[in-house]
Amino acid sequence: MIEAFSTNEIDRLRAMTPGTRHRVHFNNAGAALMTTGVLSTVFDHLNLEADIGGYEAKAREVDRIEGVYRSVARLVNADPEEIALAENATVAWQWAFYAQSFKAGDRILTTTAEYAANYLSYLQVAKRTGAVIELIPDDAEGRLDPGALDAMIDERVRLISITWVPTNGGLVNPAAEVGRIANAHGIPFLLDACQAVGQLPVDVAQVGCDMLAATGRKFLRGPRGTGFLYIKRALLERTEPAMIDMYGATWAGGDRYKLRSDARRFETWESNYAARLGLGAAIEEALAIGIPRIEKRVKALAASLREMLGDVPGVTVRDLGPNPAAITTFTLASMDAAAVAARLAERAINVSVSAPTSTPIDGERRHLPDLVRVSPHYYNTESELEQLVDAVRSLAGR
Ligand SMILES: Cc1ncc(COP(=O)(O)O)c(C=O)c1O
Repeated sequence: MIEAFSTNEIDRLRAMTPGTRHRVHFNNAGAALMTTGVLSTVFDHLNLEADIGGYEAKAREVDRIEGVYRSVARLVNADPEEIALAENATVAWQWAFYAQSFKAGDRILTTTAEYAANYLSYLQVAKRTGAVIELIPDDAEGRLDPGALDAMIDERVRLISITWVPTNGGLVNPAAEVGRIANAHGIPFLLDACQAVGQLPVDVAQVGCDMLAATGRKFLRGPRGTGFLYIKRALLERTEPAMIDMYGATWAGGDRYKLRSDARRFETWESNYAARLGLGAAIEEALAIGIPRIEKRVKALAASLREMLGDVPGVTVRDLGPNPAAITTFTLASMDAAAVAARLAERAINVSVSAPTSTPIDGERRHLPDLVRVSPHYYNTESELEQLVDAVRSLAGR
C-alpha cells in the first residue's frame, strides 16, 4: 500500500484528470496529464481572447497574469522579480547560460547526466571562446560526487552547471551539496530542474543555485509550451541577456538603453497568456496537494514498479543512484524499446523511449541502448503499475 494519499483522494484527483479515463499514462516525464482546472483556465482565456480581442483580454486579466510569477516564485521559494517566464525549459536555460561570459581556459563543470541540449550549448561556447568542459566524476552509485567536485575547484572554474534529475532515469543528483560548494567559492551555479519541479520540493535558497530552469508540462502538469527561469537577484543585477527586445529593455535615447530591473529582462514582448495562466493554475494545484506528499508517492510508486519489473525475466532496470525519483527506465532482452512502447500503446499504456543521445555522456559511458521510460505521477495507481508489468511480462514471454 502506497501511503501519503488516501484512496478517496486519488479517486478525486483522477476524476479531475480526464486522460486517466481512457489511458494508463506513464509518460509524465514527457508531458503529464492536465487537470480540468488547468484546462478550463486555458480555454477560458482563449475564449476571452476570441470574444473581446487578445490585447483586451490581457488587459482585463493582467492581475491574474502577474499572479503566475508569484505562483512560480512560491513554488521555488524565490522573489517574483527573480522569475522570467519562458516557452520551455530549454529557452529558460539558454537565457541563463548564454548570458554568462567565458574566455579561453575558463572551466565549465558539469555532470555525466547532463541533458543533450545543455551539453551542445557547452560545446558551442567552448568552440567560440576556448572555454573547456569538464565532467564531475560520479560516485560508486552513479551520482555526481560532491567530494570530487570540491577537488576540481580552482580560480578558472567559471560555471558549475548540472542536471538535477536526468531525462533518462531516476537518478537524483545532490544539488544542494553542489550549491554549498559553488557558493563557498563564489562560482555561479546553474541548475537544470526540468525533471525535478513538480515531483521534488525545489527551494532555491536551500539548494543554493543562482539560476534554475524548468518546464511546465512535465511533473508540474501545466500546458505544453511553458517554462521558467529563476535568477538570483544579486546575479541578475549584473547579468546582461544575450538578446534583448523592447520588453526586456527600453531605449534611453541616443546610444543608450536600459534593461528591466527584474528577471523579465530576458523575456520578449509576445507570449501565450492562456498557457501561462494554465501554468499558474497547475502550480497552485501542486502546491495545494503539497510537493513533499507528491514526492513521497511518486517515489513509492516508482520503487514498487522497479521491484515488480525486476522480477520479470529479461528485464534490466537501468536507474542509478540511491533513493531514486519517479523516472524508471528499463530494457527487455528480447525486444527493443520502441517495439515495447508500441506494444504497450496498443493496450492504451503510454510510456516513452529514452534514446542514449538525450543524455549523451551517460549514454556513451554506460553503452546504453534505447530505454523504455516509465514515469508515474501521483495520480497513477498500483493497479496501473500491475497492468503495465503484466503487459511487459507477456512481451518478455514472446
Ligand atoms: C533534464 C531535462 N532538461 C531539459 C529538458 C528540456 O525541456 P523543454 O523540452 O521544456 O525545453 C528536458 C526535456 O525532456 C529534460 O528532461
